[in-house]
Amino acid sequence: MDLLDTLRGRRSVRAFRDEPISRQLLEQVLLDASHAPSAINMQPWEVHMVVGEERKRLSRRLLRAFGERSLTCAPASTRPLADKFMARARECADLMGPLIQQMGYDFKGYVNEGSLGFYGAPAVALLFLDDSFGPERMTDIGLFAGYLILAAAGHGLASCPIGLVKAYEDEIKDHLNIPESKILLLAVALGFPDPTAAVNEFKSPRVGPQEFVRWVD
Ligand SMILES: Cc1cc2nc3c(=O)[nH]c(=O)nc-3n(C[C@H](O)[C@H](O)[C@H](O)COP(=O)(O)O)c2cc1C
Repeated sequence: MDLLDTLRGRRSVRAFRDEPISRQLLEQVLLDASHAPSAINMQPWEVHMVVGEERKRLSRRLLRAFGERSLTCAPASTRPLADKFMARARECADLMGPLIQQMGYDFKGYVNEGSLGFYGAPAVALLFLDDSFGPERMTDIGLFAGYLILAAAGHGLASCPIGLVKAYEDEIKDHLNIPESKILLLAVALGFPDPTAAVNEFKSPRVGPQEFVRWVD
């Protein structure tokens, strides 16, 4: 598929078919994602790819923890955010909510429990950075995540980035035997979309560049 078509057509999928992805395909996606740029080419990303029954076991653990702690998706801000950002988040929920309701779920429950269940995806890539790196290198992990998502799309796989895992980082590290020194930044659920799920019809709106660029010339 053409790169620009892939960029423009990508969307986060929130209902996956229970169909495994071959190891060979996942390895190719990771290889392609590894072409992401990184500061002085250090390639600091570390990926734990959790698949099949192990992925389901991890979700059961996270959903148990969710039942105890109820830590939910949030904007993660250090100060109150400008109104325009909250308006965009509300618009997203307002557009996605009715599709989720059509499926018989309420929006918050579906997104929070769905995120920790990786929306039924057969594979989830957990992206880590070693804590010997400074916070600047989180940028590299973000770029890798972008490449991973687009590489997956290029190979016919749908994805959903899932930041909610950060709230359950301790559970994930304990469950997968990952050292304390590794910082979890993002999960990316990977799989094949469920074409019957209304939520997958959602295409999020965008503001145009006029909203975020200042030309200096
Ligand atoms: C860092 C990050 C964290 C995210 N966390 C979640 C999440 O926990 N659960 C979820 O359903 N979607 C999550 N998303 C997906 C966003 O909601 C989605 O990218 C946004 O609404 C734009 O929609 P699109 O990806 O379909 O273009 C996350 C995306 C990013 C970039």
